[in-house]
Amino acid sequence: MKLNEALQIPLTSIDREITNIVKHDPDVPRSSELAGAITGLIASGGKRLRPLMVIVGSRFGPASDKRKIWRLAAAAEFIHAASLIHDDILDDSPLRRGRPATHTQTGIYPAVHIGSYMSARVVELIAEYSADRKRYVFDLSSMATSRLCIGEYQQLKHAFDYDLTLDQYLEKSRNKTSLLMAACLRIGAQAAGADEDISGRLYEFGDKLGLSFQIRDDLLDFTGTEEQLGKPAGSDLRSGQVTLPVLFALEDAKLAQRIRRVGPSTSSEEVDGVLAAIRSSGCLERAEAYSLRLLEEARRLADGLEGFEAQRDLYTLLDYFGCRSK
Ligand code: IPE
Ligand code: IPE
Ligand code: MG
Ligand code: MG
Repeated sequence: MKLNEALQIPLTSIDREITNIVKHDPDVPRSSELAGAITGLIASGGKRLRPLMVIVGSRFGPASDKRKIWRLAAAAEFIHAASLIHDDILDDSPLRRGRPATHTQTGIYPAVHIGSYMSARVVELIAEYSADRKRYVFDLSSMATSRLCIGEYQQLKHAFDYDLTLDQYLEKSRNKTSLLMAACLRIGAQAAGADEDISGRLYEFGDKLGLSFQIRDDLLDFTGTEEQLGKPAGSDLRSGQVTLPVLFALEDAKLAQRIRRVGPSTSSEEVDGVLAAIRSSGCLERAEAYSLRLLEEARRLADGLEGFEAQRDLYTLLDYFGCRSK
């Protein structure tokens, strides 16, 4: 069963709200390259995890202003989609979801601006809620987005940096992935009037879940097929991303020697050899165990939210994140 079905959330409603964001922007003609690139990216698929998390978060509060929640959910996907556009440029990744990435279609400079426009549009979108001076407006529009940009910046700065520490890897991963997921759960809860304590706990849950998600995504780059990944396997190592399995492999002096030789102009055959050596080193299993420990920590946080019907949605998310294959 698909995640949205298990959570009883129709994806069509989320997608309609996302399309509305573009359709109702008076400054962007619907026939423009800008509008086309955004609607094309949205239509190219994606699991809509972040909107689903906003809606799950909202189930922990008493109020149900559906319009507000759906709009926040759509805004979350907009932030995510914008980050994917920028991420593929930075990772020099020509494909996204099995199709040409936005920058492959439009060229890099237009794609940079399309991504920036999407992030900026979110601020406008939720500005109308700032009138009631709720703190959540800033969580989504400024905190998570700026952290995301910092995370991508850190990723770029650490390309081919084999001295990256575990803490730096974790910080970068939280910035680029888990803090947005955490903010999604919290903003949904806050928008539905949940207690601060509850939305805070959901934030922590989302943080653990998101970090485990990024580690699993990094693992999939070693274990997934091109079809699953929507881009060639091994892309991370090739583009200089030092992910958790690589960090573990660097602890082995012999393997470290081979990894450290990988640079921007290393041949594909040599990178393939290093990938194979990492695959058979036991480091993938270690990274997997790390990701599972985070899921366990998240599960304990979910256990503490008994008494809410939506607690079962947290378990659904945990099960999904624990066995996802992209
Ligand atoms: C991809 O996120 C980027 C990461 C944070 C690893 P998703 O796996 O949620 O991407 P889509 O939206 O479903 O394609
Ligand atoms: C997640 O990192 C990127 C964002 C949060 C935008 P990755 O670089 O691992 O994501 P993929 O693998 O390209 O989807
Ligand atoms: Mg990437
Ligand atoms: Mg990845």
